[in-house]
Amino acid sequence: MTHHEAKVGHLQPIDELLLDDEAIAEQVMKVKQDRNAVILVHNYQRPEVQDIADLTGDSLGLSREAARTEADVIVFCGVHFMAETAYILSPEKVVLLPEMSAGCPMADMATAEEVLKVREEHPGATVVSYVNTSAAVKAVSDYCCTSANAAQVLEAVEGDEILFVPDRNLAVYAASYVDKKVIPWDGFCPTHEYITKEQVEQSLEEHPEAEVIAHPECRSEVLEMAHHVRSTSGMLDTVVLSPAREFIVATESGMLYPLSRVAPDKKFYPVAGEPICPNMKLTTLSKVLWALQTLEPRVTVPEDTRVRALRAVERMIALG
Ligand code: 13P
Ligand code: SF4
Repeated sequence: MTHHEAKVGHLQPIDELLLDDEAIAEQVMKVKQDRNAVILVHNYQRPEVQDIADLTGDSLGLSREAARTEADVIVFCGVHFMAETAYILSPEKVVLLPEMSAGCPMADMATAEEVLKVREEHPGATVVSYVNTSAAVKAVSDYCCTSANAAQVLEAVEGDEILFVPDRNLAVYAASYVDKKVIPWDGFCPTHEYITKEQVEQSLEEHPEAEVIAHPECRSEVLEMAHHVRSTSGMLDTVVLSPAREFIVATESGMLYPLSRVAPDKKFYPVAGEPICPNMKLTTLSKVLWALQTLEPRVTVPEDTRVRALRAVERMIALG
């Protein structure tokens, strides 16, 4: 009997058990060991889910870990494209997404068919797709990138014309660092798109000493006001290094928890409006435990798509 087939614990719907967070977390740790599983958790997840992580991080850090872990099972506490990326890199493992409906509306703004059509209109262009895309879109792309390395990838790829899919804000931001023609797709993250310049101004009026730290999925007018523009994990490094004592955080508000953990002596304020990604909040401790017990729901990718998507992801990872 393999780890995957082994029956672990007594299965019972968690709602009926009425356990508190601490008791569920304890069970998660036990079942995780039996399954030889690793729990990867994105920085926007609920605090109690971040607390049971083997690794918390941004999309780049979590993909790298998915590529090198020796666990049999990856539990991905994030959204669908992240679990897909883990499967693309580690198809021999069971990849679990505790809440299957946790998607990314921005990723849904580009389909492989649409990308192929635009490719035809720009036959000389290199296609760089943000990691927030489906495996099918990655499979028709030349390179993948994340918010942590977008400018570096644009600089490194061959050709002077790049089609950047799907985040128009990240495309414009990363393009400002390179001397290449970047054609942005017309997609965006609703959570970041709705952060306005006026909200940042309001937050600065309330906290005039604070520095603004923003995610590159925000609109240009917001990024122009930011002291720092970083991926979620980049934010953690920046607040530790910066001499500033207070920060206005222009990204999903879940970020305040890991920021306060790495710099407990500093103050963090969500930008006015307190943006939330509802999909990132769908994963709960009970769902993680249920996923570990049942080894469902699993994320997989058809093999021909996976192999083609892997090429784009590996080319990104190879850039360092
Ligand atoms: P990071 O890779 O910076 O964590 O961003 C992922 C994401 O979905 C941001 O909205
Ligand atoms: Fe997608 Fe935006 Fe949510 Fe990130 S915050 S998962 S980009 S919808």
